[in-house]
Amino acid sequence: MSCVLCILEWCCALVVLALLIRRWLRADADLTLLWAEWRGKKPEAVLPGQVVWVTGASSGIGEELAYQLAKIGSLLALSARRENELERVKKKCLEISSLSDKDILIVPLDLTNRSSHGPATKSVLQHFGKIDILVNNGGRSQRSLFVDTSVDVYSAIMELNYLGTVSLTKHVLDHMIQRRRGKIVTMSSVMGIMGAPLATGYCASKHALQGFFNSLRPELTEYPGISVINICPGPVQSQIIQNVFTEEVSKVNKNVGDQTHKMSTERCVRLTLVSTANDVKEAWISDNPYLAVCYLWQYAPTWAWWLLNRIGKKRIENFKSGVDADVSYYKKSS
Ligand SMILES: NC(=O)c1ccc[n+]([C@@H]2O[C@H](COP(=O)([O-])OP(=O)(O)OC[C@H]3O[C@@H](n4cnc5c(N)ncnc54)[C@H](OP(=O)(O)O)[C@@H]3O)[C@@H](O)[C@H]2O)c1
Repeated sequence: MSCVLCILEWCCALVVLALLIRRWLRADADLTLLWAEWRGKKPEAVLPGQVVWVTGASSGIGEELAYQLAKIGSLLALSARRENELERVKKKCLEISSLSDKDILIVPLDLTNRSSHGPATKSVLQHFGKIDILVNNGGRSQRSLFVDTSVDVYSAIMELNYLGTVSLTKHVLDHMIQRRRGKIVTMSSVMGIMGAPLATGYCASKHALQGFFNSLRPELTEYPGISVINICPGPVQSQIIQNVFTEEVSKVNKNVGDQTHKMSTERCVRLTLVSTANDVKEAWISDNPYLAVCYLWQYAPTWAWWLLNRIGKKRIENFKSGVDADVSYYKKSS
């Protein structure tokens, strides 16, 4: 009898384990963030009335951030280089929310033009009187092999993704320190955690951001009201592949391919807002296998390097045959 009970217990344990593994394979974020989404503060409770400055708001993740924040009732400063696209985003924000014209300020901004960051910050402060949240989202990725890529491309990537972000943060942080409160949210990437072929410069810029913000956070311990939040998405639907840097600074990427296998922009942005509301210091937002590679990279790097060699080989084959580099190993996001 006791033997039968023992077998039953083991069967139950195995079923529970299998269900947990199945659930984990379908996870699209790290456990801290999933917990925050389940039990933490809702963005709708924290973000209404907050002044949020979003860079890179003219397309992709930044555009969707503008829509979700507008619906929640945050006041918005929207930045990017293309003013006409920002006008389009503002118009839609007004259509889908109860915000009025004065609640959304368009601030055209080139992140690589650092001398413009001070005046841009002043114009947001003059309009709203405060900045509660800065979302450092503007940036560009890369699709090119190192051996074929000009060093000028590396300089341009660092100038935009890294120095542009650091410069704007410096201006806004001065104001947050005076108020002793604020949130600095930065759109890093899973490539700020792991490496990936075809993106040596992009990975370097996102690693630089991770190192920078993870070092800034402990410099701000006297200001517990200021939080530093790094968001690390995996592949997400946006215009990112159209806009990637390639072998030369002026060369446009022609291998855009189908992007529908990637995580939806809406889901990525929702999880970003959950992270922001709950001050999650580092959020991994990704479908598998990248999510699993993040865990491996953190806890078992030797296995991660082995796996990345295999995935990387396929990525390079895809790239050389003219399809999107990530296309082969993705399931459609549910
Ligand atoms: N999509 C993904 O798979 C993914 C994954 C991980 C991380 N990310 C990160 O998410 C962020 C947003 O990317 P996305 O996927 O939404 O791509 P996207 O659709 O190409 O959007 C990029 C945004 O950055 C802006 N931008 C580019 N160069 C700029 C400059 N010099 N100055 C100011 N703004 C500039 C663009 O606006 P203008 O051209 O009008 O200036 C655009 O609004 C990036 O930091 C990216 O690295 C994306």
